[in-house]
Amino acid sequence: MRHFTDVTDLTPEELERLLEAAAQLKAARHRRVPSQTLAHRVVALIFEKPSLRTRVSFESAIIQMGGSSLFLSAQEVGFGWRESLADVTRTLNHYVDAVVLRVFQHETVLKMAQVATFPIINGLSDRAHPCQAAADLLTIREHFGEVRGRTVVFVGDGNNVARSLALGCALLGARFRLASPPGYGFEPAFVQRCQQLGGILELQSDPVQAVADADIIYADVWTSMGQESERETRLKTFAPYQVNARLLAQAPPHARVLHCLPAHRGEEITDEVMDGPQVLVFEQAGNRLHVQKAILEFLLEQS
Ligand code: CP
Ligand code: NVA
Repeated sequence: MRHFTDVTDLTPEELERLLEAAAQLKAARHRRVPSQTLAHRVVALIFEKPSLRTRVSFESAIIQMGGSSLFLSAQEVGFGWRESLADVTRTLNHYVDAVVLRVFQHETVLKMAQVATFPIINGLSDRAHPCQAAADLLTIREHFGEVRGRTVVFVGDGNNVARSLALGCALLGARFRLASPPGYGFEPAFVQRCQQLGGILELQSDPVQAVADADIIYADVWTSMGQESERETRLKTFAPYQVNARLLAQAPPHARVLHCLPAHRGEEITDEVMDGPQVLVFEQAGNRLHVQKAILEFLLEQS
């Protein structure tokens, strides 16, 4: 049984193949080629946090592939408090073909994966956002031809999105640089893990220096879901890390801006950048659809 708890559940070759499959699925969608690869399959989405892109891209992907999706808020199923996570999973084993989870604790994804006889897809946890990373890598591949050799500079918090993208870059041979305030970077064990995968990972605190040779500048919110009580402190700490026109002017003109969205305009990114010519954020959001399809096909083929 294969799961997608983080990008490192795939080998570099599998990740390359996944991106190629997503590119082909994208082309097929544009040619309006119908698909039935998920016919009679049921995929449940269990979410502890809000979502636009992850929910809608998965549900649309499933419908477009002839399958059915069930959206269940964690509250509704009493996930982990009405009955244990293991008992929820053992029950779902009889009903569904795959589950997409959006949770606070990454541990929840791993625990469910231990008991599930269906593939588990991590639709965001506090530690990882691998579906996002796959869409980001597809966007980079489309724009630059290949991911290998590119310099991806993530400006802001060393969070779930940054971590999965760092791992994805390590697998595919891109340089990943995190420009973050002290205390908000990656811990040594994570850095070591990226390096063991052959990744070139650099940690910086100066955003201006960090973007000097960037191909991609990446922004995400400063306060992730679940960290709302830290918002005031984070607003102050991250203020010098705003992706604005001034910072963009320090990067090469060919640099492109990515953001996983939702964007907090006026905080981590300005209107000027979001609405400017160097952003790829809505193509990136669109790529979630094609990547979700490729992930579902990959996992269900092997289950
Ligand atoms: N980028 C992303 O995962 O968006 P949602 O939180 O809207 O799903
Ligand atoms: N880092 C953000 C990503 C949202 C898609 C969060 O976890 O809230």
